[in-house]
Amino acid sequence: MIQVIIDGKTCAAEEGEILLAVARRNGIDIPSFCYEEALAPYGACRMCLVEVVKGGREGITTSCTLQVTEGLDVLTESPEIIRLRKALLELYLAQAPRSESIRALAARYGVTRTRFTKKTVRDDPLQNRCILCGLCVRVCRDVMGVGAINYIGRGQFTEINTPFFEENETCQGCGACAEVCPTGAIAIEDIAPNRIMKSWSGTKVPLKTCQSCGRYFAPSPFVDNTLEKLDTALKAALQDLCPDCKRKEMTRQAILLSTGTPLPMK
Ligand code: SF4
Ligand code: FES
Repeated sequence: MIQVIIDGKTCAAEEGEILLAVARRNGIDIPSFCYEEALAPYGACRMCLVEVVKGGREGITTSCTLQVTEGLDVLTESPEIIRLRKALLELYLAQAPRSESIRALAARYGVTRTRFTKKTVRDDPLQNRCILCGLCVRVCRDVMGVGAINYIGRGQFTEINTPFFEENETCQGCGACAEVCPTGAIAIEDIAPNRIMKSWSGTKVPLKTCQSCGRYFAPSPFVDNTLEKLDTALKAALQDLCPDCKRKEMTRQAILLSTGTPLPMK
């Protein structure tokens, strides 16, 4: 373990750890939009800027790409960092004027208006909330192994959607994109018997029905692909149950096992 100093606080870390992660573990909140632990650091949004005072290359850098070394000393809210963060927030307010999370962060820094022209697009599938951080594209491709969405267009016309803005049958409806989106841009709705990926060209993914209570509960391809990776017995036991029934059945099995009388699934 090594020691680093963040805003005057000494924090223990492992050599090479990402500074943003070390800060968060120690209760120091550095704002970020494009950082996600499950993905490699990307450094796209610049919100996580910090000022290196000592122990590294002095100056301003992104904390989500900075690997810590012994004696590193940084400030996360120096006057210069706050000035830059406010300017960035004005830009994001213009780019994603409907995002509540951006508005909330901007308000935290006293930014309530933007000098830049607001980008509002009628019927925008991403609800005028996308800042093009790329997390949805990366999680779909690199974590879920699907790649149902991507960047389309260039420069100021860049947007994110399915190829040719058509329904995409590779989408599993897992919702990981919406889970990681920092601005709440992605709209998904379950309208039985399908999950509708409203932001992704209305792609429809069939929902699975619970064999016990009959409720629709999760997208079929996602459940099937996930179960594929599980141990056969567990898979057989759980595959057709919704989360509620799954929990009840697992509890029942646990009780029966503790009394030494395991029974087949109901
Ligand atoms: S939809 Fe969300 S996650 Fe995807 S690029 Fe836009 S802001 Fe980032
Ligand atoms: S979180 Fe570091 S650049 Fe986006």
